[in-house]
Amino acid sequence: MNILKIISLLAMLVSAGCAQETGAPASNDANSAADTAASANGDAGAENEADIDALLAAADPVLGKRQFIFCQACHTVAAGGANKLGPNLAGIVGKEAAVVPGFIFSAALAESGLVWDAASLDQWIANPAAMVPGTTMVFAGIRDPEQRANLIAYLQEIANPVD
Ligand code: HEC
Repeated sequence: MNILKIISLLAMLVSAGCAQETGAPASNDANSAADTAASANGDAGAENEADIDALLAAADPVLGKRQFIFCQACHTVAAGGANKLGPNLAGIVGKEAAVVPGFIFSAALAESGLVWDAASLDQWIANPAAMVPGTTMVFAGIRDPEQRANLIAYLQEIANPVD
């Protein structure tokens, strides 16, 4: 199979996936083609971007706080909070990966070059070990895209508190 066939096959799969997950109409198709090209280059994160933006627009940080029970055994979120088994997550949205002082990160995450935005957090929370093989975050992942979006909305609110 040549590369163009593979790309168009992926495009079909991705747009089928988008339509199923979000119920969004054809407006996603243009993005899907671009995302697919990015996926073919190994940028798996890009295919989530259109989805997560839409989901985030409708997300509920209060429900997201409930999702955080899956994280709080290992993470604090308040500014100046302690590092536990995992690093403090204050201000995590927009932050470079693996820069929290006083926490020893895996080489895999330290060398990932990631910046935490909605799309990368979405992918991480869905399956950290698949995104960064060798990470020391042992977490099976949250499968439901809406629950992930709510959780990211919660983290975002903590990162940029309005008071
Ligand atoms: C069992 C403990 C554990 C659980 C549960 C856990 N984490 Fe982690 N988390 C870690 C560890 C350990 C790391 C550091 C990973 C590394 O260095 O590879 C980490 C790293 C992270 C990072 C990257 C931080 C940075 O500064 O780059 C984010 C974001 C994160 N976790 C979010 C979450 C969220 C959100 C949840 C809940 C859905 C969660 N984690 C659940 C242990 C955990």
